Amino acid sequence: MLHRKKTFLFNFFMISLLISLFLSVSVKVCTSQETEQQKMERMKWWTKARFGMFIHWGLYAMPARHEWVKNRERMTDEEYQKYFELFDPDLYNPEEWARIAKKAGMKYFVVTTKHHEGFCLWDSKYTDYKVTNTPYGKDLIKPMVKAFRNEGLRVGFYYSLLDWHHPEYPVDRFHPMRDNKEFREKTRNRDIKKYAEYVSNQVRELLTQFGKIDCLFLDFSFPGKDGKGRNDWQSERLLKMIRKLQPDIIINDRLDLLDVPGGWDFRTPEQFMPREWVKVNGKKVPWETCQTFSGSWGYYRDQYTWKSVRQLIVMLIETVSKGGNLLLNVGPTARGTFDKRAIERLEGIGEWMKFHSRSIYGCTEAPEQFKKPDNCLLTYNPETRRLYVHILEWPPGRLYLDGFAGKVKYAQLLNDASEIRFTKARRSSVLSEKVPGNTLMLRLPVRKPDVIVPVIELFLK
Ligand code: GLC
Repeated sequence: MLHRKKTFLFNFFMISLLISLFLSVSVKVCTSQETEQQKMERMKWWTKARFGMFIHWGLYAMPARHEWVKNRERMTDEEYQKYFELFDPDLYNPEEWARIAKKAGMKYFVVTTKHHEGFCLWDSKYTDYKVTNTPYGKDLIKPMVKAFRNEGLRVGFYYSLLDWHHPEYPVDRFHPMRDNKEFREKTRNRDIKKYAEYVSNQVRELLTQFGKIDCLFLDFSFPGKDGKGRNDWQSERLLKMIRKLQPDIIINDRLDLLDVPGGWDFRTPEQFMPREWVKVNGKKVPWETCQTFSGSWGYYRDQYTWKSVRQLIVMLIETVSKGGNLLLNVGPTARGTFDKRAIERLEGIGEWMKFHSRSIYGCTEAPEQFKKPDNCLLTYNPETRRLYVHILEWPPGRLYLDGFAGKVKYAQLLNDASEIRFTKARRSSVLSEKVPGNTLMLRLPVRKPDVIVPVIELFLK
């Protein structure tokens, strides 16, 4: 009898041990900390790609005066409803979009499946506020994903954490109804937990119904007074689900989990150029800057602050020269087309990329020993060991490269593979001032090659 009891207790003990072991393992799997090496491996295609297309599309393309129009003009749901009732992008042709992106040299795209206005571009079963209920009546995301994949681009989804339409989304300092006391009072009992559930359900849809999703851009957190952050979105829970559904996915940094290990994959400086490689606690980290053509993300008819092709090309080069990616945004019109101004710029970039993408793809910041000369930007491909000198202002006849002497095997212009001769510099011109002993002098043609930004490719020894 006693023996039986003992075996029973022993078995009980062993079973509970096994269960708790199993539990701790499965929890570990969810929060598992990959090594730095594993993370770099997971992000390898992205780091090499360097250049992607952001697409901001939604009902706000109709007012055509900024994707925050509902917030800026403090519109009620009723006032905004007309856009929903009339939305009909009849010229939508995702194959064409994908071709344009590919031709521009972009390697991935990220589309707003839902922006802050709350309107969904796919046929979500958790809301009626979606494209399939507009006059257009069809899902926009499926054909887009297919078209871009067919052109060989990787797929990314943007999903807004904010939602200015959802009935359980509590009014906060960014909500269009923020100044309306009556509305605030009326909606006092909105339950953020229910909204977080909605977010989780929708993100699950996005990560299960469209095949492999390569990146996810969640936007954004604003903790503090009248704001929202990780507890509201239930960020950690959400992140675990995301990683479980798409283990290879690359996620941005706006879930308010900056201090949580594994809480983000890359930093996202927006609409400005960082002074140097973005660092966290003194360590260089993966980063992607998202930039607009003209300031607004959504289609903005009357905005005339468009950057030039040259400015955009330099922006791409500078980003890569600091070890980052560029996600360049297009805001399609409500007919479903790219703005002419966007097409012109993308074509211009593509023309340059056709001859110079070698100084972009797979490239990064140049090793520290190579100092960037005046009016130049350097990028470097560590695999091929080639260094790229982007010359922003064409100098007369000579270009001095400090720190390069003895290190270069061969030099050529990238656009036509024509040789550039070089010698170790002794003195600089008639002033006979001494140049550092490790300076290389390139003999440049007098005329600037006929490309927007000429590049010299240096084959290192
Ligand atoms: C900001 C804006 C938004 C835009 C995003 C892109 O967070 O709220 O309109 O989508 O930046 O990164």
